[in-house]
Parts: sequence; C-alpha cells; structure tokens
Amino acid sequence: SGAITVDPGYKNTGATKSAITFLDGEVGILRYRGYPIEQLAEQSTFLEVAYLLIYGELPSSETLLDFRKKISRHTLIHEDMKKFFDGFPSKSHPMGQLSCLVGALSAFYPESLNPNPSEEEENLTIIKLLAKMPTIVSWIYKKSLGHPVIYPRNELNYVHNFLNMTFGQITEDISIDKSIVSAMHKLLILHADHEQNCSTSTVRIVGSSNANLYASISAGISALWGPLHGGANQAVIEMLENIKNDGGNSAKWLAKAKDKNDPFRLMGFGHRVYKNFDPRAKIIKEACDEVLEKLGINDPVLNIAKELEEAALKDQYFVDRKLYPNVDFYSGIIYRALGFPTDMFTVLFALGRLPGWIAQWKEMKANKEPIGRPRQIYTGSTTRDYVPLDQR
Ligand code: CMC
Repeated sequence: SGAITVDPGYKNTGATKSAITFLDGEVGILRYRGYPIEQLAEQSTFLEVAYLLIYGELPSSETLLDFRKKISRHTLIHEDMKKFFDGFPSKSHPMGQLSCLVGALSAFYPESLNPNPSEEEENLTIIKLLAKMPTIVSWIYKKSLGHPVIYPRNELNYVHNFLNMTFGQITEDISIDKSIVSAMHKLLILHADHEQNCSTSTVRIVGSSNANLYASISAGISALWGPLHGGANQAVIEMLENIKNDGGNSAKWLAKAKDKNDPFRLMGFGHRVYKNFDPRAKIIKEACDEVLEKLGINDPVLNIAKELEEAALKDQYFVDRKLYPNVDFYSGIIYRALGFPTDMFTVLFALGRLPGWIAQWKEMKANKEPIGRPRQIYTGSTTRDYVPLDQR
C-alpha cells in the first residue's frame, strides 16, 4: 500500500542490488565482477568470462579445465529434439526457433523442474545449458541451409567446436583461422552481461516465480529478439544495405532518423544507460577493421557505417540527446565477415549473453528475491453493471 509511482520503462527504478556488472553510462565504463571489459576482451576467453560471471571469480587453470570438461560431457542434445528442427519451416527466424528449443530443454531434462534444487542440481542445469546452446544454435543454421547437422567435437574448445558445428562439413574437418576464433571469443565476451537490461530483467522476473532455468532463459531470448534490444544488430545491417542500395546517401537517412513524423530510428545508435561512447562499440569497431583486413574483405557497408557515425556524432540532434553508437552498430559487419547470415546475428548475441543471464538468475535465487510483481495505477471505467448480450 501507499502511493504508487509509475515509471514507464523503469527508467529510474532499480529492481535489485547486484554484484555482477558495473556500468557507468555517463563515462562509458563497463566491468564484469570488477574487471574492465577492455582487459577481458583482449586477454580472456569466453568460458573463463562465463565462469567469472556465474561464480564471481576468475577460475584457476585447474577449475577452468574441470569446468570445460563438465561442459564437454553435455554438448549433445536429446536425439528426439531433432524432430523439432524438422518441424520448423526452413526459413523461419532463428530467434523463434531458439527460444522454443531452449524452453523445450526442460521437457528433456526434467530435473531442472525442481523449484528448490541443491547446489549440485543447479550447477548441472547451468552446465547443460551452456553445453547445449552452441549445438542448438549451429543446428538451427545447418537446418536453414538444408544441410546435415554436425555433432559436437569435444576435444575442441567451446568456441572452436561451435564454429566447427556451424561451418564444418560432415565429410571433413575444417581448419578455422585462429583470428576468426579469437574474434568470436571477443564478440561473445563483449555481449556476456549488461546488468538489468530488458532480456536480463525478463530472465530474473520469470525466474522469480520459481520457473525453471530453461524457461527463464527462453523468455530472455524472446525479449532479446526485438529490434530495440538485441535485434538491433540485424536491423543495423539491413539499414546499411538499404542506404547502400539508395546510392549511399547517409545524409538523407540521418534526416529521416531526426524526423519525428518518421518512425525510422538510426539503428545501433542510442542507449538507455550510455550517454557517452558504449565501450563495447569502441572495441568492436577496432576488431571490425582487424577482421576485415585479415580476411581480405572489403565490405562497402563498413564505409557507410563509418560515414554515418561520423555525421551523427557531429549532428546537433544526436549531440543534444547524447546518442552514440552502441554494441550493435559494428558487430553485424564482423559476423557477416565471419560468414554468418543476417538473421543469425541476434542468435549470436544470445549465445554471448547466456552466461550473464545465468549469473543474474543465480544471483536472484541466491538473494531469495520475492516474486517480481510491478504495480499499476488503474485508469479504466468505474464500476458498471453487466448488460446481457441480446441487449447490447
Ligand atoms: N535514432 C533517432 N533518435 C533516437 C534514437 C535513434 N537511434 N535513439 C533515441 N532517439 C531519440 C528519441 O527519439 C528521443 O528523442 P526526443 O527526446 O526528442 O523524444 C531521445 O532520443 C531519447 O530516446 P528514448 O527513446 O526516450 O530513449 P530510451 O532510453 O527509451 O531508448 C533505445 C533507448 C536504445 C531503445 C533507443 O536509443 C533506440 O531505439 N535505439 C535504436 C535501437 C538500438 O540500437 N537498440 C540497441 C540498444 S544497445 C544493445 C541492446 O540493448 O541490445
């Protein structure tokens, strides 16, 4: 009881106390468990960062080895899940498939349904999810091509195995350039957590009803899909392609983004919390130059992106509103250079965000947070009497 304040979009409402990710949007600082994102992106590996986020500390080499081994024991998914892949139309969006398949894991691994799991049971579900997600993601891609799936190769590291299942052929092992594996680690690390964003808040709120981890993550995947959130990485490339096909006229598109009568927004620009450069965008922009050079790719949309960024940063509309490029602005250009089709971009975001979602779900459970249940101020009719159908 007491006065209820409404805060649409929770712009100024804290939902929790959290010890996982620190973000200062005014300055452009991002740290996981105290470690600056720049150091992690440069020096760490994705599984190490996953461990850090979920368990709070960087693992020793022995602990990391054990974590890897446990994960590699659970990379297969139940063969019956292949029937789901067969059932999806081959061109259906990978994000719709992903949320569905991750939700379905609870049916195949029902030990996850225990609302009060022991620490060991909880860890097993966490390991299974981390292990099975790359298999699911690559199989979605293989299905879109009409190709046979590639089974996990557990002697490969997590990211290499994922790339092998995605780009490998059933008849031969593929050799994957080291720089590709390292760019992929970097991208996944940069996406691994971002405090109480839309999908993470979704995961926490769904989990707060004691729904199982798979169901909570599946809900997070659905939240991530939207173009205002993770779906922006796909929308950016589509926008850049449109600008290219429109003769590369970025000024015209910038004007469209500023026009309040036009629903178009500059995708990959602006952020709820960053009112300065998104530190992830800075790292990705550099990585983008490196990867394209290494692979000898000259992608015309990269030039359009740079031109657009430069123009926006000088434009009074963007300056006044403190709109800077965000993580999604350049990531798609790298994904595409690595060989991923546009509709897989948001799925890659989900693969990277998975440890963050898990860490936040685990923290919510450990804190014994109450069920999430926002209030409202009612604005509908006052009481009135029911009118039978034949009198309406
Ligand atoms: N293009 C043009 N105008 C914009 C943009 C943009 N991309 N972003 C914000 N604005 C304007 C907006 O119209 C508003 O103007 P005014 O004050 O005149 O009404 C002002 O800036 C503040 O925007 P807002 O919509 O109130 O801010 P928000 O915090 O609710 O929204 C956002 C944040 C990320 C949804 C928004 O900036 C946006 O739609 N960006 C484009 C989509 C995008 O790139 N999303 C990815 C976000 S980062 C990664 C992730 O979350 O997945």
